[in-house]
Amino acid sequence: MERVRVAVPGRAYDVSVGAGLLPRAAELLPELPGAERAFVVSDPLVADHYLEPLAAGLADRGLTCVHLGVPEGEEAKSLHTMTALLRQLATQGAHRQDPVVALGGGAVGDLAGFVAGTYMRGVPFVQVPTTLLAQVDAAIGGKTAVNLPEGKNLVGVFHQPVAVIADVATLASLPEREYRSGMAEGAKVALTLDLELLERLEREPGAALERDPAALEDLVTRCVRAKAAVVGEDERDAGGRLVLNYGHTLGHALERLDAFRGRSHGEAVAIGMVFAAQLAERLGRAEPGLAARHARLLSSLGLEPEGGLPEAEPILAAMRLDKKYRRGIRFVLLEDVGRPVVVGDVPEGLVRETLASMGAPATSGGPR
Ligand SMILES: NC(=O)c1ccc[n+]([C@@H]2O[C@H](COP(=O)([O-])OP(=O)(O)OC[C@H]3O[C@@H](n4cnc5c(N)ncnc54)[C@H](O)[C@@H]3O)[C@@H](O)[C@H]2O)c1
Ligand SMILES: [Zn+2]
Repeated sequence: MERVRVAVPGRAYDVSVGAGLLPRAAELLPELPGAERAFVVSDPLVADHYLEPLAAGLADRGLTCVHLGVPEGEEAKSLHTMTALLRQLATQGAHRQDPVVALGGGAVGDLAGFVAGTYMRGVPFVQVPTTLLAQVDAAIGGKTAVNLPEGKNLVGVFHQPVAVIADVATLASLPEREYRSGMAEGAKVALTLDLELLERLEREPGAALERDPAALEDLVTRCVRAKAAVVGEDERDAGGRLVLNYGHTLGHALERLDAFRGRSHGEAVAIGMVFAAQLAERLGRAEPGLAARHARLLSSLGLEPEGGLPEAEPILAAMRLDKKYRRGIRFVLLEDVGRPVVVGDVPEGLVRETLASMGAPATSGGPR
């Protein structure tokens, strides 16, 4: 097992990463004075697999587990579900020492974190992420949110967990598509910040793809370390976190488009990273070959980083909606692997050209 400290000032916590950690939950939690019950938020599918071992682990600390059920996936991230959870806590008489525990993917983590951050102005929160994306990304950093009909993640608070327990054994049951989607974030960390991980993934992508527990412990630990370093410096998302946004400027824009519906976050980010590498080459910031190296890595990890792009104009329009858009588009680019830079005012013409070279049709209504 590995432990990574997230050094948020005044609220530091440990992320434990390893196989078979759920039944050991008791030893992985910090002191929780006065806690009697743990309110575990989880969808039926995940609860079916993992509630029992976690409850056994919590019982070793004298914590009685109370399951609060929520719908699967993104549907759970609503004010409606949030209200239902808050009311269940109130009717059950949860007190402010009792932890709320998120057992599930990033959606459950975001929702349960928001509930924990607001019930009685904040109760202890524990993250037990069970998707690759949640283990490498969503469970770390203290951002919580639910969606509004008007947009994703529009309401939320910063509320750091007191502990994160990332049991990589839970990833065995994850559907392939979800697994690969999380792998894109792993590749992102490798390309931007961790050359050792990059070398390992390039040399032996099979170990990660086959979900070898040792390879997963290594992958998740390295990603957590990368995020922990950035979050420790920059809890409120000012600058450093931008690097972790590599591939996401285009990725988020794609996800806003109907024409991209049905494809995963990881696919969008994979395309976004290849695009960023091509852009860096076109700007003369990177040597030729960087984009090809991206494409090779991502393909070997089961992602399809090329082809099937929607039209360029709607993509550009969606990029202009980005929170990070300030006259001209700002991108995280790589001068080489492991050397991220933030480049502002990238001309839209160049973005358009690069999209076209990746196969995005230029004119509306034309055949692909
Ligand atoms: N807070 C942050 O910093 C942050 C960062 C990135 C993403 N997010 C959020 O995370 C969410 C996406 O998270 P996600 O990719 O984990 O998807 P998800 O939470 O929607 O889960 C996807 C599906 O996987 C299933 N599942 C979860 N664990 C499983 C397991 N071990 N075995 C089998 N099935 C399992 C769930 O039932 C669900 O149907 C988005 O809402 C996104 O906004 C938040
Ligand atoms: Zn992402």
